[in-house]
Amino acid sequence: MIVCICNRITEAEVRKAGRAGAPTPETAYAFHGCEVQCGCCLDYASEIIDEERSDLRGVDAAAA
Ligand code: FES
Repeated sequence: MIVCICNRITEAEVRKAGRAGAPTPETAYAFHGCEVQCGCCLDYASEIIDEERSDLRGVDAAAA
């Protein structure tokens, strides 16, 4: 599914950037060589990144 129409960035690509450490949509898009344009996608992209990062925190806590 496309998250960012302006850049044609998919949900999987946003998740990948979040897992790689991108804390915001801006950094996630930069990870894929893009930048925010209209901004319509930012709320949804933030939700996706927050999900990925909270999953990573769960993995870290389980490993400790
Ligand atoms: S839809 Fe993502 S910047 Fe426009």
